[in-house]
Amino acid sequence: MKTNCKIKVIVVAGARPNFMKCAPILKELKKTKSFQTIFVHTGQHYDYDMSKVFFEHLKLREPDIFLGVGSAPRTKQIASIKNRFEKVAKRFQPDVVIVVGDVNSTLGAAIAAKKIGAKIAHIEAGLRSFDKSMPEEMNRIATDAISDFLFTTSKSANANLIKEGISKEKIYFVGNIMIDTLVNNLNLAERSNVLAKFGLHKKKYYVLTLHRPSNVDNKSILKGILSVLERIAGEYRIVFPVHPRTKKALKKFRLLKWLKNNPVFIFTKPLGYLDFIKLVRHSHMVFTDSGGIQEETAYLKVPCLTLRANTERPITIEAGNNVIAWNTPDKILKASNLMSKLRRKKKFRPIKFWDGKTSNRIIKVLLKR
Ligand code: UD1
Repeated sequence: MKTNCKIKVIVVAGARPNFMKCAPILKELKKTKSFQTIFVHTGQHYDYDMSKVFFEHLKLREPDIFLGVGSAPRTKQIASIKNRFEKVAKRFQPDVVIVVGDVNSTLGAAIAAKKIGAKIAHIEAGLRSFDKSMPEEMNRIATDAISDFLFTTSKSANANLIKEGISKEKIYFVGNIMIDTLVNNLNLAERSNVLAKFGLHKKKYYVLTLHRPSNVDNKSILKGILSVLERIAGEYRIVFPVHPRTKKALKKFRLLKWLKNNPVFIFTKPLGYLDFIKLVRHSHMVFTDSGGIQEETAYLKVPCLTLRANTERPITIEAGNNVIAWNTPDKILKASNLMSKLRRKKKFRPIKFWDGKTSNRIIKVLLKR
């Protein structure tokens, strides 16, 4: 089947946090004439606001193949991604399949790649929260176990992989690809009128994102988080771009009306990449349970309270801008006080290789090997 001497690569994306990780790698693959690349979108995220808007903002090329898996319970969704992707991969016969992050699409595509005998390159390997109740943690462990190239964002990720018995030769510390996208788009994001649209002034508002099942699938936890953040906000407002899962939960728990009528919260649909980055960059502080936003705030040196019991990105805590706030009112308040002290010390540090050049380092490794 192999018709020319180019290296055949499939890049796979499926959910919102994947798109910003694929954009720089696709760009870099195109620059280097040694690759023949196809781009596959699994369709795990399918809404305009969760998917299409990122293609527009990031100038991401249209996928060559759309698998259209849609939503389903976790194991069903992974199986469907694996089955549909396997057919595509069998036809194209790639040398390498590049998967990113830790979503169901990452694991589904990796299993299919393994089955057809392609090499698997996992970008963002080795992150561990050590919390196996998180679907993402299971996706990370399983994907890393079968990958051939493990590209990491930090030295602690290398150490996690080595502890799991993965051979050193497969692990490459290359930095953070999300930061490539951030660096490439910061100037463009500055042109967004999102602050004016919401009537906000720089450093005088907060940003909130929530979507983890552990935070949004239980009414008292969700209400507890929102109520304590309302207290912390004081006279500032909290911009809350609401994820589809969270919107469903708010409706189910009859909290949607309360939230929409609450003068502290600015309830809005999920935002596009450029608007969101501008909003985060100029905020007083971010409250989030996302992984990627912990990284973006670290680069931007914006204080971040992580509304979880742990993080798979401990390097953002070492950098000084991130504090684990858990998800109960008393702990969130404590974390907020701690952040006020850290902010006064102004000791937010840059992180090695989070510099906009990660995709270049990855391509160099692939070419060499
Ligand atoms: C997924 C990822 C998570 C990532 C998050 C970012 C997994 C296990 N989880 O979680 O790591 O941080 O994406 O958003 O892969 N929905 C829509 N429109 C869409 C997409 C989803 O309405 O475009 C709805 C689905 O129908 C479902 C819910 O949102 O009810 C959750 O979607 P799903 O992809 O299962 O997981 P996320 O919570 O988005």
